[in-house]
Amino acid sequence: MKFSTVLTGALASLAAAQTPAPYTDPKSGITFNTLQQSSGFFFGLALPANDTSNTDFIATIGGKGTGWSGVSLGGGMTNKLLIVAWPNAQAAVSSFRKVANYSPPPVAAGTFAQLPIANGTYVNATHWTYTFLCSKCIQSDGTTFKASDTAAGIGFAWNANAPAQKTDPAAGVRQHTAQGIAAFDLSKAKSDKFATWKAYAAPKVASAFSR
Ligand code: HEM
Ligand SMILES: *[C@@H]1O[C@H](CO)[C@@H](O)[C@H](O)[C@H]1NC(C)=O
Ligand SMILES: *[C@@H]1O[C@H](CO)[C@@H](O)[C@H](O)[C@H]1NC(C)=O
Ligand SMILES: *[C@@H]1O[C@H](CO)[C@@H](O)[C@H](O)[C@H]1NC(C)=O
Repeated sequence: MKFSTVLTGALASLAAAQTPAPYTDPKSGITFNTLQQSSGFFFGLALPANDTSNTDFIATIGGKGTGWSGVSLGGGMTNKLLIVAWPNAQAAVSSFRKVANYSPPPVAAGTFAQLPIANGTYVNATHWTYTFLCSKCIQSDGTTFKASDTAAGIGFAWNANAPAQKTDPAAGVRQHTAQGIAAFDLSKAKSDKFATWKAYAAPKVASAFSR
């Protein structure tokens, strides 16, 4: 009892990473290996089973309130592929970022892309949730984890303050008030249902005209 009280106090200032665990979003039905923090921040990953040449994943990211949540796909902040997201009314606004030092990261350009999954993107009474297919997001240049990895260090960061220009995906964000790196067991993110879930993000309109 006494020990756990002391431990809780010591960890409070470090944004101690909880252990990611499987979580199924009831709105999309997709299961993610998900890191959840007491602030409300969460980040979940879904990957295909047994595909070492895979470059894609499905992610869910969110938080409480209207601030931003971010992750580093390579663990550390610098020279890694970052994703930031925040809510704007009922929608989510997000972008890729990259920076060489500990300073505000500008938008990163590349072949990677985010394709939103509609029923996994919502705001409820307490949280905002953004779910998307991250296409070509697993890179081989050291800026992200690799498809062959069994475990990955995923960086996380958040600030409860919304960006000033919250309709603009390239908006400047204020420095995080908490950050860290969490160990993700990627085997717990892998699913045979990945291909089905991935199709939730496919453009629906194009097929109506392709017959
Ligand atoms: C907006 C301006 C930002 C500034 C000035 C900034 C600055 C910093 C600094 C100084 C550290 C080291 C903290 C420490 O060791 O005590 C750090 C760590 C970190 N930052 Fe940022 N940051 C910013 C934005 C971001 C964003 C947008 C993300 C993610 C999307 C992010 C992710 C991280 C992560 C994961 C760490 C911990 C791992 C590491 O130290 O590399 N940062 N940041
Ligand atoms: C989410 O939307 C997809 C279609 O885009 C649908 O197939 C799936 O069943 C929906 N999830 C739930 C839980 O209704
Ligand atoms: C709101 O969404 C969050 C994140 O998806 C979830 O954890 C929470 O249970 C939801 N709350 C309600 C009342 O559905
Ligand atoms: C993945 O590999 C495991 C173990 O070899 C096997 O049981 C499973 O059926 C495979 N899944 C797919 C989708 O190939």
